[in-house]
Amino acid sequence: MPDTTVFVLNGPNLNLLGLREPAVYGSTTLADVEVEAKAAGARMGLAVDFRQSNHEGVLVDWIHEARTRAAGIVINPGAYTHTSIALHDAVKAVDLPVIELHISNVFARESFRHHSYLSPVAAGVMCGFGTHGYVLALEALAKIVATRNATSPR
Ligand code: DQA
Repeated sequence: MPDTTVFVLNGPNLNLLGLREPAVYGSTTLADVEVEAKAAGARMGLAVDFRQSNHEGVLVDWIHEARTRAAGIVINPGAYTHTSIALHDAVKAVDLPVIELHISNVFARESFRHHSYLSPVAAGVMCGFGTHGYVLALEALAKIVATRNATSPR
């Protein structure tokens, strides 16, 4: 398993970041976030594989792929956060640290956003820090990965 590659996965509607509800999600595009995440990863010694899909099964496939190709995952599951037992099971199925990330503070929003199927199986949850949350989540993941690599080097 590569010790220094991490996946950053984005779920539905995040392809429209920057255009979509800018009052909630800001004006930064997902392409901008990818550049920032890759630069932040490089500073931490991590290669960031950054992806987005509107399809639940594709996200499941990518989590499975990470099992042998990544040391950890940052995932913004979008609305699948609140609906997807499949994503819960996929995270449970791979022995990888997963950070759940939301751009908005989901707890300050509608009550249907207060429940997450991912949180019980995530190493940690980051929400409400705008797109800077991607950098913060990568920092948290880098620390977990470094600790794992030090205690059980492959
Ligand atoms: C989101 C929050 C979700 O509730 C919403 O469905 C999204 C984006 C966020 O990044 O704040 O699509 O995950």
